[in-house]
Amino acid sequence: MRSFNHSSEILKLLNTREYKNLGLVPTMGSLHKGHIKLIEKCSSKCDETIVSIFVNPTQFNNKKDLANYPQSIKNDIQIIKKINPNTIIYTPMESDLYTSPPKAQIFDLDGIDKIIEGKFRKGHFQGVATVVKILFEKFSPDYAFFGEKDFQQILVIKKLIKKYDFEVKIRSVSTVREKNGLAMSSRNILLDKKTRYDAKIIYESLCIAKKMIKTNDIIKIKDFISNLFLVNKKFHLEYFCIAESNSLEEIVSFNPNIKIRAFICARFQRVRLIDNIALN
Ligand code: PAF
Repeated sequence: MRSFNHSSEILKLLNTREYKNLGLVPTMGSLHKGHIKLIEKCSSKCDETIVSIFVNPTQFNNKKDLANYPQSIKNDIQIIKKINPNTIIYTPMESDLYTSPPKAQIFDLDGIDKIIEGKFRKGHFQGVATVVKILFEKFSPDYAFFGEKDFQQILVIKKLIKKYDFEVKIRSVSTVREKNGLAMSSRNILLDKKTRYDAKIIYESLCIAKKMIKTNDIIKIKDFISNLFLVNKKFHLEYFCIAESNSLEEIVSFNPNIKIRAFICARFQRVRLIDNIALN
C-alpha cells in the first residue's frame, strides 16, 4: 500500500488495474471509528478504494479552528493499512488541489448551505463543495462514502452532484458513537477525558427530542433542550432545531408522515460538536 501526493500518480496506477467500481472516502484525517466504518463499507462495495486525507482550508471559516484541527497522518496510514492494505491513499499537497491562495468556488446550492450549520459557519459548505467537486473531477469515482454525523454535508454534496451531473453515487453511513453516545469526531480528542464524558448531553438531548416529539409541540421541545444546557452550563448550545430530512426546512408542528431529524451543535470553549438523528 502506498500513499500518493499527486493525483496524476493515482490515475496512472488505476490505468494499470482492472476494476468495476471505484470508491472514494474523502477525509480530513485524524481517523476514528466513524472513518473506519466508511472505509470498510467502501472496501466491501468497491474493488478499488481511494481514501483522501486533506485538511481543506477553504471550509474553515475560523483560522484558529483550522490551526487546531488534529492531524496524525502516520497513524492514519496504519489504520487504513489494517482495514484494507490495497487502499490507495491520497495525501495531496495543497498545490495538487488548488491554485494559490486556495479559494472556495461559489455554488448555487439552493440555500441548503445557508441554513442550520451554514448560519454559524459562513462559507463552510461552499468550501466542502469545492474540494469534493475537485476530488470527483480528478478520480470520477463510482461511489463516495460520507458519514451521517454530517447529514447536512451529505445533502450539500447530493445537490452538487445534481447541479454538475456527476455520475457518482453517494452512500451515507450511520453515525458511530462512543460508549456515552457522543458521535465520533476528529474533534473529540481536543476534549479532556471528563469533558468528553460530559459531552453525552449532546446525544442525550437528541434522544429526549425523539421521545418528546409525538406528544409535545416543537417549541416545548426546544425550550426543554435550551433549559438543559442552561442548567448544565459546561456546554454552550449553538443551535437545536427540528427540520424536514430532505429540505432541512425547520418544522413548526409534527406530522408523522413527513420524515424529520433533530440537529444540534454545542460548543465547549472553541470545540464545536455537531450531531443529528432521525426522529421518525
Ligand atoms: O467530512 C469531512 O471530513 C470533510 O468535510 C470532507 C468531506 C473530507 C471535505 O473536506
